[in-house]
Amino acid sequence: MNTYLWWRDGVIYQIYPRSFADSNGDGLGDLPGIIPRLDYLADLGIDALWLSPIYPSPDRDFGYDVSDYCNVDPRYGTLADFDRLVAEAHDRGLHLILDMVMNHTSDQHAWFQESRSARDNPKRDWYIWRNQPNNWQASFGGKAWEFDQPTGQYYLHLFTKEQPDVNWRNPAVRQAQLEAFRFWMDRSVDGFRLDVFNAYFKHPDLPDNPPKFGLRAFDRQKHIYDIDQPEMLPLLNELRALLDSYPERYSVGETYQASPQKTVAYCGPDKLHAAFSFDFTSNELSFPWNPGWIKEQIARREQIFNKAGVWPTTVMSNHDLPRAASRYAKGEQDAQARIALALLLTLRGTPFMYYGEEIGMRDIAVRRSEILDPPGRKYWPIYKGRDGCRSPMQWDNGKNAGFSSAKPWLPVHPDYLQRNVAAQAADPDSLFHFTKKLLSLRKTFPALQGGDYNPLESPPGTLAYLRSMPEQSILVAINFKSRTTEFVALQGKWQLLLSSHEESTGTLAPYEVRLAIKES
Ligand code: GLC
Repeated sequence: MNTYLWWRDGVIYQIYPRSFADSNGDGLGDLPGIIPRLDYLADLGIDALWLSPIYPSPDRDFGYDVSDYCNVDPRYGTLADFDRLVAEAHDRGLHLILDMVMNHTSDQHAWFQESRSARDNPKRDWYIWRNQPNNWQASFGGKAWEFDQPTGQYYLHLFTKEQPDVNWRNPAVRQAQLEAFRFWMDRSVDGFRLDVFNAYFKHPDLPDNPPKFGLRAFDRQKHIYDIDQPEMLPLLNELRALLDSYPERYSVGETYQASPQKTVAYCGPDKLHAAFSFDFTSNELSFPWNPGWIKEQIARREQIFNKAGVWPTTVMSNHDLPRAASRYAKGEQDAQARIALALLLTLRGTPFMYYGEEIGMRDIAVRRSEILDPPGRKYWPIYKGRDGCRSPMQWDNGKNAGFSSAKPWLPVHPDYLQRNVAAQAADPDSLFHFTKKLLSLRKTFPALQGGDYNPLESPPGTLAYLRSMPEQSILVAINFKSRTTEFVALQGKWQLLLSSHEESTGTLAPYEVRLAIKES
């Protein structure tokens, strides 16, 4: 019996549409640009696409400030282009999920324009207005309340002041937002990523958050009243019922201030299908990278997710983080990038791969004067923002890396002359082929999809585990270090499936990634 389920057993590939492929020469990626790349994506071996927001947006947070939930930004194309993209993706067996940004809208959304126009406007209560602010802080810096002169009240915004938080307690808002999900499912979208979903509800009395130790003003508060309120669970039940009224739809939540415990509480048969726990990336200022720490993180999430019966997700890179290849690799060496990809694609959980991760794209260096991202402008130089990981996809060594005929909205990484899809596709030893091989092994061997995770004892500097099901057992062994290491021989006969090194013996070569299957 074929029990393959795309969102559980497959791999989801995140496209940041502004930076993927520009079809009309305006320096911004767009939907018609993605369509001719679908064959590439299908051939790579991924199963689904997640598009970062494609809706009309004034771009104060680069698409995460939505001014119309049921349309496509004209710079990205039209609804007809979108329908074509979905149909062409489906033709190739690729599913497609959209990013729903429903904690807040843009301040240019018609709802907010109405809401701010008068205290007695019928949409006034669609947002959160008060005479006096409390002590809440915006996650992108500054206070979470903005005074609006014309009507003499403050409105709440947990992100930039151009992203007012909607009032999910208002039944009309709830209905309008759920309608947007329906709108896209009627256009055959397969699922949704929910942006900061656990911030939708705020405590009704808006009490001050208590203090705690932290770096930024935002971190010096315990976020007990502005996020994770109990009303979220009944809403998730309602949303799930709506999703389940269509065949095989999927939801994955971006857990704001994630922890595995918090994440699993939002998932289940009548809640979200999955949510991010960010086990390897949750500390945004420093990113530990050693096998001991990684093993502990895996053990923690395995225990919590297993106990809750929730299927985990694995993230190494996304549009909010420095890319894994930039965090862990030295210069243009790809040894650590290979390791990060091996973990992404062999741990238990749905892998979310970020565009360009398959070729080890690095973050661009952005000068202070070039920073576009709001938190980067606010916190430079402590935090340089997220522009670095959003640079144009490196397709080939032609003009603008084959991304656009015009100057791209963010600079292309200067390494594109060597690091690009075309060059790596032509080199059987490239990271691209390594990624492709891992993707194909994952697809071929069910143990790499649904198998249990069993850690093995291994020498310092290495990490080893089995992914096992009764009829199949696969070994993953990784050497993080630059020296050859003894590797404990395993019982039984093992057949090599993949090694980043030619000779595979009783030792692990420097930085080796090895996969082997037990022969029966
Ligand atoms: C999420 C998004 C991020 C965005 C923020 C506000 O964290 O991933 O890119 O800036 O929400 O919408």
